Amino acid sequence: MPKYAILSNPGHNRVYFEASKELSLSELSLALDKLGCDYTEPKGEELGGIFYVCFSTVSALSDEMLAALARLSFVYAVFELVGEGDRLLLSPVPLPEVLYMDGGLSSILKYSGKTNELFTRLMINAALLSSDFSTKEIRLLDPIAGKGTTLFEALSLGFDAYGAELSEKSVTDGFNYLKKFLETEKFKHTTSTEKINLQEKGLSAKRYCADIARSKAEQKAGDTRHFELVAGNSMYADRYFKKNSFHLIVGDLPYGVQHGNVGAAKSGGSLTRSPKELISSCGGAWYKVLKPGGALALSWNSFVYPREQFAAQLASLGFEVMSGGLYERFEHRVDQAIRRDLIIAKKPK
Ligand SMILES: C[S@@+](CC[C@H](N)C(=O)[O-])C[C@H]1O[C@@H](n2cnc3c(N)ncnc32)[C@H](O)[C@@H]1O
Repeated sequence: MPKYAILSNPGHNRVYFEASKELSLSELSLALDKLGCDYTEPKGEELGGIFYVCFSTVSALSDEMLAALARLSFVYAVFELVGEGDRLLLSPVPLPEVLYMDGGLSSILKYSGKTNELFTRLMINAALLSSDFSTKEIRLLDPIAGKGTTLFEALSLGFDAYGAELSEKSVTDGFNYLKKFLETEKFKHTTSTEKINLQEKGLSAKRYCADIARSKAEQKAGDTRHFELVAGNSMYADRYFKKNSFHLIVGDLPYGVQHGNVGAAKSGGSLTRSPKELISSCGGAWYKVLKPGGALALSWNSFVYPREQFAAQLASLGFEVMSGGLYERFEHRVDQAIRRDLIIAKKPK
């Protein structure tokens, strides 16, 4: 039975690196399950004083499995373990290049309230691996997009990325940053903006779009990726976007007053530390725009809203909430006031 050891990406944040040791076991198991791989349960092990995620498979990892590993949030390098005890050797296993665009798109921009980009990649993977879809032609929505970390991670993975965000300043900051990045990295792109009238409500929103290609030849061949971020309240997501159009919905819910929820339309709503209000105003619209077989992944502060209540609220909207086993092993400490958890739910077919 071949045995493998994965060296984790150290990232920029020591607290997250410690938390990610547990999270990576669930993310890896989801990937191996989706591919129908026969494997032993992954475990964290110290080899020469360094932490590795170790697991065995019945047969050697196929190219498809290596590509899946290369997309995982924590994977930095993969080794096959050869020999035992003092004679244990780590033999490097080359990983294929799987990213559509790299160059730090999601990591360069820093700001308060930003979601850790490695955790964001984990959320996207957890949603995709729980959905009925594979990596081909994925359309992802972050309905509470901030300055766009999820959208940038989605673009890096080669997906079309859509978002909604209440703060117009966050939207323009994120969009201007993307334009600058595309210019610096010499991607072919066109951009546009458009006002959206939500007529009978007397409200409006604004759409910021970019169509991106890696080269002139790809642009000519129509091999492009679409980016779209709406400055507006997510409770109208089904007005901004077509129904049943997203394979994945992924978002990091506001944690507290500093990046508060705004559920109500005109008044700006009340700032609350619970995601309950946000889901009750926006969850129905999110359900409508998700494809049957698609998956929703939301992170939230479990100190302020217990998992059981969150799961019941999503179920009442029609979602099928994933529960038990590795789906309940994502909770981790962010700081004194925030214990972050991740809930995954599917829209039934
Ligand atoms: C935790 S932040 C997301 C940060 C984002 N992942 C990033 O890295 O930039 C949550 C975001 O939800 C937004 N938000 C809260 N209520 C909203 C609503 N009803 N519609 C749209 N956005 C909302 C907040 O403005 C905030 O930017």
